[in-house]
Amino acid sequence: MTKSQTSKVTPWEVSGNIDYNKLIKEFGVSKIDEKTLKRIEKHTKEIHYMLRRKVFFAHRDLNWLLDEYEKGNKFFLYTGRAPSGPVHLGHLLPWIFTKWLQDKFGVELWFQFPDEEKFLFKQDLSFEDSQKYLNENMLDVIALGFDPKKTHFIIDTQHANLMYKEAIKVAKKINFSMVKSSFGLTDQANIGSIFYTSMQAVPTFLPSVIKGKNIPCLIPHAIDQDPHFRLTRDIMPKLGYYKPASIQCIFLPPLSGTEGKMSSSEDITIFTTDSPKEVERKINKYAFSGGQATIEEHRKKGGNPDIDVCFQYLKMFFEEDDKKLAQIEKDYKSGKLLTGELKKYTIEKINSFLKEHQKKRESAKKDVERFIYKN
Ligand code: TRP
Repeated sequence: MTKSQTSKVTPWEVSGNIDYNKLIKEFGVSKIDEKTLKRIEKHTKEIHYMLRRKVFFAHRDLNWLLDEYEKGNKFFLYTGRAPSGPVHLGHLLPWIFTKWLQDKFGVELWFQFPDEEKFLFKQDLSFEDSQKYLNENMLDVIALGFDPKKTHFIIDTQHANLMYKEAIKVAKKINFSMVKSSFGLTDQANIGSIFYTSMQAVPTFLPSVIKGKNIPCLIPHAIDQDPHFRLTRDIMPKLGYYKPASIQCIFLPPLSGTEGKMSSSEDITIFTTDSPKEVERKINKYAFSGGQATIEEHRKKGGNPDIDVCFQYLKMFFEEDDKKLAQIEKDYKSGKLLTGELKKYTIEKINSFLKEHQKKRESAKKDVERFIYKN
């Protein structure tokens, strides 16, 4: 695989070989250091494997958030999903971590479904299709086991009565040139897309509006969403609210290799509704391998787990057991473990996860109404 020289990370485009350390500097987020991990562990009693393995690798104001928490000032969580297609494995990654945070800290989660976002940004997505995906996508979120008593879905067009009057307060503080420089939008951008970021800002302070007091907010999200919250953070103090804290993850790679991110616009992607046969076919046929061309060569030289998509899926998502992961890494590097064997193991792991997920996704159909916020 040849590595691309250039990479791009914006909320609407992620491509190339992403240098996360460079992004930390460019975006101005902070690396999660050992001291902060220890502080988290004090409250959670364990460190989630996505933190241990630096899948969640950066943050803004996490120490401030923990200061507040330790003073008894509980935060709420906020994350979201713009319906634009079926949910794939890459989407689930930050949500699984969010669920862990909800369980460990016992906090509320506000989950936004900006059902206008992708309609505005994607030429060929109709509003009707975004509604179809909205209904499908909600099932995937519920299936992960969020606490219905502590989780509120906010759907931009259905909660417009709540959202719009707050969004305009944000919008008034943002001019076109700020949007152009933050998101790379041009003069040709439609005016809905220019306004959009003010809608994504609203859930960072909506619970404070509803409860009539300032409540700290923590946003778990993939690093590409940071430009939204950088803008939001500049504006919140001007409206009398706290700046939201955030915690960022890297992207689950696409099947084709360790560049870019898993995306529905890729030809081949693993969706949450794929059958075991489909998963098997996709991994066997398309998952980029860090192994050698022939078995003899592989036994001699060993494989490279760093560029092996299956190994990365295990590390980031499907193999929680550190010992097992370390053994796989060692055996793959030494040539003892073959690409076919690694693929077989990964297929089993994904399929056993999806089997459970699909069951819960079915039973989520009866719960949707309970999750949608009633004002
Ligand atoms: N813009 C996100 C997407 O494209 C959706 C989203 C809305 C979101 N609010 C968020 C993501 C907060 C993370 C955190 O899917």
